[in-house]
Amino acid sequence: MLVKTLAGLEEVLAEELRTLGATEVVLLKRAVRCEGDLSLLYRANLWLRTGLRILIPVETFAAPTEKELYNFLREIDWSRYIHIDQTFAVDVVTQSVHLTHSHFLALRTKDAIVDWFRDHNRGKRPDIDTREADIRIHLHIDSLDRATLLLDSSGDGLHRRGYRTEGGPAPLNEVLAAGLVKLSGWQPGQPLVDMMCGSGTILIEAGLMATNQPPSMNRNFCFENWPDFDRELWQQIKQEAKAVQQPYLIPIVGLDKDFKAFRIAENNIAAAHLEEVIFIQRMSFQNYQPPAGPGMVISNPPYGLRVEDDNLGMLYKEIGDKLKTDFLDYQAWLFSGNMEALKSVGLRASRKISLLNGQLECKFQRYDIYAGTKKVREQPSA
Ligand SMILES: C[S@@+](CC[C@H](N)C(=O)[O-])C[C@H]1O[C@@H](n2cnc3c(N)ncnc32)[C@H](O)[C@@H]1O
Repeated sequence: MLVKTLAGLEEVLAEELRTLGATEVVLLKRAVRCEGDLSLLYRANLWLRTGLRILIPVETFAAPTEKELYNFLREIDWSRYIHIDQTFAVDVVTQSVHLTHSHFLALRTKDAIVDWFRDHNRGKRPDIDTREADIRIHLHIDSLDRATLLLDSSGDGLHRRGYRTEGGPAPLNEVLAAGLVKLSGWQPGQPLVDMMCGSGTILIEAGLMATNQPPSMNRNFCFENWPDFDRELWQQIKQEAKAVQQPYLIPIVGLDKDFKAFRIAENNIAAAHLEEVIFIQRMSFQNYQPPAGPGMVISNPPYGLRVEDDNLGMLYKEIGDKLKTDFLDYQAWLFSGNMEALKSVGLRASRKISLLNGQLECKFQRYDIYAGTKKVREQPSA
C-alpha cells in the first residue's frame, strides 16, 4: 500500500499504520509505503487519521515513450479493475523528463482503457467521470521512466470525514488537525482547550480520538466498487469499530468570539455526534478561565493571510499573556503561518515543528507554562 499524507506527518502516519498491523513500513516524502492484507486496507481507510488516500500498486513497467506507455496499458485486462457499467477517472503524476504532460498522459491512459473495452465488449465501454468516479486509477512515472499503475482505494481524500457542514473562515484540513493533536502528544484524559476553535476541526479530531472512534465512519470509499469487494469483511470491520467506541468525560473545550464560526463549530460537532464530549463557548479567550492544570492548549490563531485581523501582533501578545497568567501547568501548542506574529507571543518555545498548510510554511510551537515561565521578548504590537 502507498499511503499519502501531508508534509511533516509521515512519522505520525507510519506509527498509525504500525498500530493497525502494517508491516514493512517505509517513510517516503509525503507518503508511507507498507504491506498488509485486504483487512488492513479496509481498516486503514476507516481508521487512519493522518492519511490522505491509500493506493494499491498493481502494475510496474518501463514507459520511455508515450507509445510504449499506451501499448503496455492497452494489453492489461481492464475487466479485473473496472466493470463496463462503472465510471472511472485517471490521475497522473510524472517526474519523467520525456513524458512531462500529466494531462496528456491521463488522456492517453483513458484512451488505452476505453480502446481495450471497445475491443473486448463489441464497442461498449465504461464512462469517464472526473468528479465522482466509481473507480480511480493513478499513474506515477518516476525520473527513470518507470511507470506504476495504482488503484485508489479511498476515492475522495480521507480528510473528507463527513462531519464538515460548512468550512468557516479558514478551516484546517482535517488530516492536518489530527496530525497536530498527535504531534502535540495529547492523551485522552488530559483537559484540552482550543482558545480560537473556528469551525472546531482540532476539537472534533481530538474528540474522535478520545471516544476511540474512526474518523471516516460516515463516508464511502472506492474499494466498495471494486470487483473483489468483500462486503462481509467490511461490515465486520465497521461493527468492530462501533463496539470499541467509549464514553469520554474530561473537558474538551473550544472558544471563539465570532458568532458565525461558533455556529459552524456547533453544527460540525453535532454532525460528528460529539455534543456530549466537546463544549464550546462563544467568547473571547481573554475572558476564559480554564480548568486547573495540568492540561493542554492546541490553537490555530488567525495568521493574517486568509483571516483578516488588523492587529495580529497585539492578538499574539494577548495569547502569550493569557497563557502565562491563567494556564498554569499547561502545555500550549500554537500553529501559525505568521512567524513575525509568533514572536509577539513573548514566551520561549520549547519545541518548533515545521509543517505545510497548503503551500504555506507554518510552525507548530510548544510553550510550557509553569509558575516561573519567563517572558523572553516583549515586542511592540504590529
Ligand atoms: C484560523 S481560525 C481557526 C480555524 C480552526 N482551526 C478551524 O479548523 O476551523 C482563527 C479563529 O480565531 C478566532 N478568534 C480571533 N480572535 C479571538 C479571540 N480573541 N478569542 C476567541 N477567538 C478568536 C476567529 O474568530 C477565528 O475563528
